[in-house]
Amino acid sequence: MVRSVINILDLSVEEIQDLIQTACDIIDHPRDYDQLCRGKKLATLFYEPSTRTRLSFEAAMYELGGNVLGFSSGQNSSASKGESVADTARTVSCYADIIAMRHPKEGAPYVASLHSTVPVINAGDGGHNHPTQTLADLLTIYREKGSFNNLTVGFCGDLKFGRTVHSLIAALSRQAGLRVVLISPVELKLPSYVKKDILKAQNIPYEQTTDLQAALPELDILYMTRVQRERFFNEEDYLRLKDSYILTPGKLKNARPDLCIMHPLPRVNEISVAIDSDPRACYFKQVLNGKYMRMALILKLLREAGTL
Ligand code: CP
Repeated sequence: MVRSVINILDLSVEEIQDLIQTACDIIDHPRDYDQLCRGKKLATLFYEPSTRTRLSFEAAMYELGGNVLGFSSGQNSSASKGESVADTARTVSCYADIIAMRHPKEGAPYVASLHSTVPVINAGDGGHNHPTQTLADLLTIYREKGSFNNLTVGFCGDLKFGRTVHSLIAALSRQAGLRVVLISPVELKLPSYVKKDILKAQNIPYEQTTDLQAALPELDILYMTRVQRERFFNEEDYLRLKDSYILTPGKLKNARPDLCIMHPLPRVNEISVAIDSDPRACYFKQVLNGKYMRMALILKLLREAGTL
């Protein structure tokens, strides 16, 4: 079976470090990479909306000299006629060298990987995981902070459904000196399985609070997230919780001068646009870094599959 990436923990710390080095080399020497995937095809199978992940995967493959095919909604594919993820993966394996899949159901990209003959990359599955967003986040942290050690990281917003939060906590849990502050409404707390399997299992010190203002001064990184409307069972709860946290310039008064403000985007209104010009705002850097890390990951998986 070829290697797929479904969970960020499918990659070792050393492999992630190598991907970061490759991404940095691509940034410095893009011409060295622009023909490496000539004749190769990436399929983007997106059953759920996306701007950044799908387009950055596509841009990544084009910048490697390859080509792209796929769909941007399950409604435009034979999934709308009842075709299974397993059959779709087998079918697309006949046309493409590598697959990036986003799906609203947790575990769907894993099922695809069991039936695909080419590597499958999880581009976000329900409220579960988003490993390539984590690669974007890690490159951003590395370039901003120079190291992953001894960081105090605050995660704020929808920690229950925020798959980017689950994946980044898993990745950072393997670094020395991590402290985590979980800032959310009570209803949107980090799921117990993430606390048990990752934070408690690795003895990571963490605290839970509803008070962003009180937590801010101690943070090296503030990772804001949107409240995920599409995962709520009723609109009333969403409307009640959606504006729980809105970061404004005034609220940053007691934050560190070297705070790194991150957000996987899309943002709704949890970060005021007035913060975009603050040098501590890193969320559009994450967007660009995502493309470079996806380029590095495509190269790695195609090489390991013997395709390159
Ligand atoms: N960060 C992220 O996954 O964005 P999209 O939903 O636009 O892909």
